Amino acid sequence: MIVISHRGASGYAPENTLPAFEKALQMGAKAFEFDVQRSKDGKLIVHHDYDFSRTAKDKRKIAQLDYKEIEKINAAAHFKGANFAKVPLLSEVLDLIKDKSEFINLEIKNDGNIYPNIEADILKESEKFPSLKEKIIISSFYFPSLEKTRILSSSARLAYLGHKLSAILIAPAVLKAKKINCENFHLSRKISFSANLKLIKSFGFKVCVYTVNERKEAEKLEEIGVYGIFSNYPDIMNKNG
Ligand code: G3P
Ligand code: MG
Repeated sequence: MIVISHRGASGYAPENTLPAFEKALQMGAKAFEFDVQRSKDGKLIVHHDYDFSRTAKDKRKIAQLDYKEIEKINAAAHFKGANFAKVPLLSEVLDLIKDKSEFINLEIKNDGNIYPNIEADILKESEKFPSLKEKIIISSFYFPSLEKTRILSSSARLAYLGHKLSAILIAPAVLKAKKINCENFHLSRKISFSANLKLIKSFGFKVCVYTVNERKEAEKLEEIGVYGIFSNYPDIMNKNG
């Protein structure tokens, strides 16, 4: 089972910042997850929320700011004891992790198509990193973004990302994922029961579960055949408890 550094080593450093990815690399991580959005002036950036209320006590929205304003915001403000860390560009994150990466989950945050055509921008940016072509897998809670990515690229690697997916909705979701040729299926730990996994795997998907921060839970998921877990702790399998 692979351990995917969720928003970098976000248990040890401020999520989705360069220090979080540096920390993950130092810890030997080879698999990474992060969230991608777009500034008003079209720069692809890495950040989870649509604004900075939680991370920097700043209510301004990413979509309404140019990157020169965004880069002044301290994305580490919420993390106790951390130094200033800017919101990184997607290119900076890819550049940092490219040599050590075996698996990169690039998650598009685009609910309600807040960033029209961001899928094309992401594919274009990824092409600047040819060595990552086979390593990047694109996911999104916003299914139209996955559909759009598939239309733009028949070779892009895709992962279905289940949002508020109750067990009863798994079967229809699996069919949707199949239709656009996703290879992975990512689901919440809250519904990662063995029966659900069996069903998803019977359609040929590799299953990754988010977000797993307890070693015991991680071990159980490994036992029942999960392919990967997203964890804020790259060292989760060696942690106590
Ligand atoms: O991609 C897996 C996971 O990151 C999805 O949830 O809210 O942490 O982006 P979230
Ligand atoms: Mg994410």
